[in-house]
Amino acid sequence: MTDSKKIYLLANWKMYLDLAESVALATALRAQKLSPEIVMTVFPSALALSGVVNEFSDSDIAVGAQNTYFVDKGGLTGEISAAMFAAAGCQYALVGHSERRHLFGESNHLARQKIEAILATNLVPVLCVGETKEQRDSGEAAEVLEAQIRSAFTDLTCGQGRQFIVAYEPVWAVGTGAACDPFEAERMAGLIETWGRLLLGENSEVFVVYGGSVRPDNVAAYLKEPHVSGVLVGAASSRLDTWLEIVQSALTSV
Ligand code: 13P
Repeated sequence: MTDSKKIYLLANWKMYLDLAESVALATALRAQKLSPEIVMTVFPSALALSGVVNEFSDSDIAVGAQNTYFVDKGGLTGEISAAMFAAAGCQYALVGHSERRHLFGESNHLARQKIEAILATNLVPVLCVGETKEQRDSGEAAEVLEAQIRSAFTDLTCGQGRQFIVAYEPVWAVGTGAACDPFEAERMAGLIETWGRLLLGENSEVFVVYGGSVRPDNVAAYLKEPHVSGVLVGAASSRLDTWLEIVQSALTSV
């Protein structure tokens, strides 16, 4: 880990916390002292968003959307647009999370539409990619990731200096306790960075983070890897004790 490298600590609270629980956790996190290398972003439920944005209004902790829709406004019951999340104080937006892809049938094409809408705002897209257990077992992991990345980034029009985060989240590691070997996460992160640069331009800012059963006792191993710029954490980020241990581990690795 070099001095200039940023470490992204991304907390995906999924549907674990209601409004009161989210605001209580945000209040506790606001008091934490971070170092300038740490970029902490929490992704609360849409319902808790304004409460959490409010809590972090005088802190360096950013807020992100868990999911967005690609049309700004319209008769789209239950959806919330990227533009609306940006207006509500978000700075980041997850797109293509494996739970969206596999539980709600979202395709690479839909992820691409969402990325375009996200780029029309000032939100930083956090594209989630990853292979299933079957795809890994049949040796297709890299191929699946490449298709996800190509679909998201080929001929993408974006302004200079846009930042992209790609989360390598193997589906078999999400919420299972079966975290990916850090060397394998590093190998995949290297590939993702190469494809990202190829498609978005050599000087583009593409950062890769790892997600999938990250815990206090394994986070340091990922942060040590040169192509892994941080972690995207689900369950362990929704509890103050485990998240603070993860933050502590990151602070000691900068
Ligand atoms: P877990 O950390 O609970 O495995 O979830 C990872 C994830 O999906 C983060 O987006």
